[in-house]
Amino acid sequence: MDEAHDLECGNVKVKQNSRNLTDVAPRVTAGSRFPEGFLWGVSTAAHQVEGGNDNNQWAAWEQAGRIKSGDRSGKACDWWNNAERDFDLAQEMGINALRLSVEWSRIEPREGRYDALAVRRYRQMLEALHQRGIQPMVCLHHFTHPLWFEQRGAFLGGGAADLFGRFVRHVVSALGDLCQHWVTFNEPNVYATLGYVLGEFPPGRRGQILTAVALVNALARAHTQAYRAIHELQPQAQVGWAHNFVVFQPARPGARRDRWVTGLVNELFNESFLRLIELGKLVFPLSLASGDLTEVKGACDFVGLNVYSRFHVAFDARIASQMFARVFVPPHVPQGDHGVEQPYGEAYPAAIRVAVERVARIGKPIYVLENGVPDADDRIRPWLIVNVVQELDRLIQAGQDIRGYFHWTLTDNFEWSEGWKLRFGLVALDPKTQQRTVRNSGRLYGAIARGNCISPEMVNQYFPAGIELTPD
Ligand code: BGC
Repeated sequence: MDEAHDLECGNVKVKQNSRNLTDVAPRVTAGSRFPEGFLWGVSTAAHQVEGGNDNNQWAAWEQAGRIKSGDRSGKACDWWNNAERDFDLAQEMGINALRLSVEWSRIEPREGRYDALAVRRYRQMLEALHQRGIQPMVCLHHFTHPLWFEQRGAFLGGGAADLFGRFVRHVVSALGDLCQHWVTFNEPNVYATLGYVLGEFPPGRRGQILTAVALVNALARAHTQAYRAIHELQPQAQVGWAHNFVVFQPARPGARRDRWVTGLVNELFNESFLRLIELGKLVFPLSLASGDLTEVKGACDFVGLNVYSRFHVAFDARIASQMFARVFVPPHVPQGDHGVEQPYGEAYPAAIRVAVERVARIGKPIYVLENGVPDADDRIRPWLIVNVVQELDRLIQAGQDIRGYFHWTLTDNFEWSEGWKLRFGLVALDPKTQQRTVRNSGRLYGAIARGNCISPEMVNQYFPAGIELTPD
């Protein structure tokens, strides 16, 4: 197929040959400049980049040999010693925002004992970002917390919201002059699902669906307490959370059981936290288990969206522990690299539209806080970026209040239960030598960020010819 499409940026308009865009890419339509002040960022997380984190529950999980690849986070990207090296790269690319998280186990290594040096290092990092014209966004809990907190039952333990709230106050008091945008939790739904239903994250429980729901409720309470605490200390702060949104598609749309189980998965995974923020309660019958959560209603200034994939869902009577849902990735769809045991997921740019249109109902500004693909050879990442940026453009043109896009991630980092097997970086990293190499997609993304638009020249320059969308 050799059809011509138009791409436009500002006043420039040229023909773009679709050979490079493949048959499955959404049609490239006229694009335009993004709003002034739009954030073109990257997202990271403390445990995945800092290195030397040995006092949290993930370090214990690694030591217990629970990483599928057998890897350890080790020095990770060595940010604790030298995050500035990657901040320089981000600055050179032209990125104007960076989301990072603070590691609770460094700041409060023992219950009630704070480490002033750790806080000082985070101040240095935030200052270093400002010096480079990069706006920081700080996440207060990205999957990890101190071992002492895990041993108390983490967020299901007594007094958890107060303990987290105390930590949050400490951080915001110490760093508030350097940060306006706070993310309380990264992906409460992923933490609950992978920790209590699929057993891939600590504490490694399987099939405990009601406990997962209880955890989502507990995280919503802790989020709300943190939201209030931050506003008390910093009235102008913008506070949200990062919501992982997956598009679930019935495997056989004509089959009633597939549609039913897809709805169930969607309700539990995508909807539960959203409904707590939107309505202060879950839908019946889950509402019976959740108690009074009216305090949660409306507790956010923005919604952060982490959007990656689409999955197909089929009813399977043999897997009661997963609500009879067989969630899978069909082989023919565009995909990045395969995980150790399973495919990572379908690379699905249109997921952004589904997610944005859903969370827009909450009526708050939206930041896309994560989006990316594992792709060591940079085979489809440029395709993903081009298509997602165009999707964002169309959504903004249609009136959606999207304030920024943060790509996951800047430099290859330690990918949780997959270890070093999956590479999400705009910059390739050799964790042994710490050598960095900017990928083609990094150059493309930098051009988009600097131009605040996507132009045909960028696509021509950085889009590899003959891109392949399915693995061999
Ligand atoms: C998480 C990141 C993770 C990324 C890629 C997100 O769900 O927040 O920490 O590395 O997905 O799997």
